[in-house]
Amino acid sequence: MALYGGGGFYTTGGRAGRRGHFVTSPEVGTLFAAVVSRALDSWWAGLGRPDPFLVVEAGAGVGTLAAGIRRASPQCSAALRYVLVERSAALRAQQARHLTLDPPSALLRAGPGAGVDEDEGEPDPMAGTGPMFTSLAELPGEPFVGVVLANELLDNMAFLLLERARSGWSEVRVGEAEGELVEVLVPAAPHLEREADRLARHAPPGGRIPVQRRARVWLREVLARVELGRVALVDYASATTGSLATRPWDDWLRTYRDHGRGGHPLSAPGEQDVTCEVAVDQLATVRPPSADRSQAEFLGAHGLEELAEVARARWWERAGLGDLEALRARSLIGEAEALTDPAGLGAFRVLEWDLSPTGSGGSGLG
Ligand SMILES: C[S@@+](CC[C@H](N)C(=O)[O-])C[C@H]1O[C@@H](n2cnc3c(N)ncnc32)[C@H](O)[C@@H]1O
Repeated sequence: MALYGGGGFYTTGGRAGRRGHFVTSPEVGTLFAAVVSRALDSWWAGLGRPDPFLVVEAGAGVGTLAAGIRRASPQCSAALRYVLVERSAALRAQQARHLTLDPPSALLRAGPGAGVDEDEGEPDPMAGTGPMFTSLAELPGEPFVGVVLANELLDNMAFLLLERARSGWSEVRVGEAEGELVEVLVPAAPHLEREADRLARHAPPGGRIPVQRRARVWLREVLARVELGRVALVDYASATTGSLATRPWDDWLRTYRDHGRGGHPLSAPGEQDVTCEVAVDQLATVRPPSADRSQAEFLGAHGLEELAEVARARWWERAGLGDLEALRARSLIGEAEALTDPAGLGAFRVLEWDLSPTGSGGSGLG
């Protein structure tokens, strides 16, 4: 409710970006989108260059990544049909500032297999007319061939909070006392206890864990929609729920406002972002990812260093001139450092599910 209810943080337009409350990788600058564009090209090639090529970005916010991909002009552009899925109407309303949006019907064909040219030999009437962009409040309803991308989405989904009691587990619920939201600990239901034991059997007394059912339900839905292609999710994540149980809980259940850490998750509801590190072992119960690597590794594999090298050469060439091109190159060098910083964004995880015929048994890397 604090994020998506009436008066919620995202409902009222809370957002990422310099003009928002926190900076995400797409909001650092244009480099992240340029590298993701290269990744899209490699996945497109891996799928046999389908046209149309559907890319669904979930939790797209105000559309910064989508606009950056458009600007980067990937090879798949003419085939690209890009769907921004954003739950907040206030943020959807801002997307048209960055992008020309078409109605969903212009991009999405109804029926299973949308995005696949089933009539071989017959040119698809939509072929070669990209890039096109559209915006939805929810994932497209029909299965499709293509890619689902999300940056910092799963950490913003509702989760249950459990605490190791002297025997068994308590569930931390939210109640109200004297007009304030307060924690209310109740014995966890037997099925939740079993789940918590499976996830964090050795949690110390007082240790807390998130149970991320919403994220799992979302992933299950997404994996069911992508007939052929890839799901790539970028987020702060921990390999195991057990490791979260040994850390102070306010280390992984964080709040942000005005580019700094916020207060207790129950204070000032609607005025701060509430986020929870993603437990990879919980997502893996839906289906183990075919690749799980750091953002630094992922960006490196898709050409970040090459782009940074070009920027460094340009900066050397033009630093003395101090013109716009020089400043732009200088900015890209800084962006590359920020996006791969092992103490910051570079440590984020990129989880991929390779849903191509060759991907199911392979590592999915590259
Ligand atoms: C932390 S922001 C990230 C925005 C953007 N991806 C970025 O990296 O700057 C998370 C976004 O996901 C949106 N969101 C949360 N749950 C969603 C859902 N189930 N479907 C679509 N969008 C959702 C929120 O409204 C919010 O805009």
